[in-house]
Amino acid sequence: MTENLIIFNARLVTPTGFTARRGKEMGKLLVLDDATIEVTDGLITYVGPNRGEKRDGYYQHYWHYNARGRCVLPGFVDSHTHLVFDGERAEEFGRRLRGESYMSIMQSGGGIVSTVKATRTSSHIRLRNRAEDLLKQMSQMGVTTVEAKSGYGLDKETELLQLKVIRCLDNDERKRVDIIPTFLGAHAVPEEYRGRTDDYVDFLIREVMPAVRAQHLAEFCDVFCEEGVFSIEQSRRLLTAARDMGFRLKLHADEIVSFGGAELAAELGAVSADHLLHASDEGIRRMAESDVVATLLPLTAFALHEPYAPARQMIDAGCAVALATDLNPGSCFSGSIPLTFALACIYMHLSIEEAITALTLNGAAALGRADRIGSIEPGKQGDLVVLNTNNYHFLTYYIGMNCVQATIKGGIIHPN
Ligand code: NIG
Ligand code: FE
Repeated sequence: MTENLIIFNARLVTPTGFTARRGKEMGKLLVLDDATIEVTDGLITYVGPNRGEKRDGYYQHYWHYNARGRCVLPGFVDSHTHLVFDGERAEEFGRRLRGESYMSIMQSGGGIVSTVKATRTSSHIRLRNRAEDLLKQMSQMGVTTVEAKSGYGLDKETELLQLKVIRCLDNDERKRVDIIPTFLGAHAVPEEYRGRTDDYVDFLIREVMPAVRAQHLAEFCDVFCEEGVFSIEQSRRLLTAARDMGFRLKLHADEIVSFGGAELAAELGAVSADHLLHASDEGIRRMAESDVVATLLPLTAFALHEPYAPARQMIDAGCAVALATDLNPGSCFSGSIPLTFALACIYMHLSIEEAITALTLNGAAALGRADRIGSIEPGKQGDLVVLNTNNYHFLTYYIGMNCVQATIKGGIIHPN
């Protein structure tokens, strides 16, 4: 569903362009006071100085919204989530607080595999309801597009089920958030393949990925490329096959140890490499020279008590950096946009302007959609956030608190 909408008296705050902003360009925003934004049939048709509310009677078919000087930004794009799952892992979180590591819990049969057990015995309706609750909260924090991964089935039936739930959420007429599906069958090795990782990769390539493609259930293919999970060679084999089938590529790269994931992303022409806490200097250089978007997930580093990804080094090297939440039931049970902003600026030393670009235009680029979303410009979707303040610094300064007054999706206003 879409609408016609005219917003006037806005303080417009937006990156500009139809591709990712990299390096220094990330800090450049267009800020325009007394601005009008016109949305026609869900698409932005005018952005600029205020123009008459009553222009030639033209706007009688438009909803009117007086922003009263408050900031209007592009809708936030959360380009990395694991939104669809059943069960919870609060007990595992307690074990981590007592000193166990994420990987040792995973290797002792907990972690991702425990969510797999809960998801395999769940149902379409349960998975959908739970994801819908999360999406509503994300929308209230200004999110208008999310990516959502499978990866809690690890068998053909449940992987397809997760992706069908994602499709169903995206097809909902009343949806407040667009959902982009990613196949992450290579998230962990399921119990039935324990010790036979290569066989599991073969199974994904032979039996699951062709079914996902045939039913158009996922646009991207992702892999947890990590020591003790999927090796560089296994990841390369899986992603090369995925690329041949028409998937676009993503990687969980260099999250726990420095492993060569960023280099592999550049080699394969992945759309994004995500996490990158331990990306090597060479990996950063290779990403800066390529079109790979470096997607950083500060909430996960925070929750795992790990060092933050070297965001400053990446931006200074000329990378295009995106920020996302990584919402999932294990390493990071949070989809908090306010906390993502705060951590990115306080601990990763992004400027607020860079963080805004990272959560809008570069998030869009990490989903191959910078031509359609991520900035406020004619031709893009009418996906916007209205803050309750005329000062966009509140996005970080108002720490962990929500300063979103309304989220606008395709010209439809959803007030908080
Ligand atoms: O991005 N690292 C792998 N995947 C997720 C965690 C998923 C889970 O623990 O359930 C991540 O951190
Ligand atoms: Fe993840």
